[in-house]
Amino acid sequence: MKFFVDTADTKAIAELNDLGMVDGVTTNPSLILKSGRDIHEVTKEICDMVSGPVSAEVIALKADDMIAEGRKLAEIADNIAVKVPLTWDGLKACKVLTDEGKMVNVTLCFSANQALLAAKAGATFISPFIGRLDDLNIDGLDLISDIREIYDNYGFETNILAASIRSANHMSECAKIGADVATAPPGVIKAMANHLLTDKGLDQFVKDAKEAGIKIV
Ligand code: G3P
Repeated sequence: MKFFVDTADTKAIAELNDLGMVDGVTTNPSLILKSGRDIHEVTKEICDMVSGPVSAEVIALKADDMIAEGRKLAEIADNIAVKVPLTWDGLKACKVLTDEGKMVNVTLCFSANQALLAAKAGATFISPFIGRLDDLNIDGLDLISDIREIYDNYGFETNILAASIRSANHMSECAKIGADVATAPPGVIKAMANHLLTDKGLDQFVKDAKEAGIKIV
């Protein structure tokens, strides 16, 4: 499973990128707002930092305007994936932009039917939002499973990009289901390393090494 980092915080991206943990980056208008930076400037910086796809989202609501914005965003770098919302206008923009050879990430997906439409429109990525379904007591991971089943039934090439990931558990569960990509905040990716027994065991090893007087260098 590919790891994308869901942030526009370039310092956080750099830290994980140095560990080889960044296969791509996703941003959206809320993450750009949080960064406090100009979308073109911060997106260009991110595209220069990572070789994988970097999702930058349009803000227009009508297809023609989305297409114009998508073309502008795609000029930033070759690894830009244009993010469009899962509306009919977004699907129209997806079809036009993918036919022009651009990567398109269709976002704000909350149902299998929406994901089916995105695949038919030629989306490079579909972004089903797990956490926001969980917030409504609907199991967001079930949506990932449903999309995986449907896409595999018909050989759709659209990549399942699990999004709105809120926990390390979401990451492992997405991997078990077979999501192609999971995009998560930096803190969630880092939390994947945490385990109480690891900490406990390491504390004991340090104690015993000291008692044994172990010297290695
Ligand atoms: O990529 C989508 C993600 O940023 C949304 O996450 O936690 O706001 O649902 P969240």
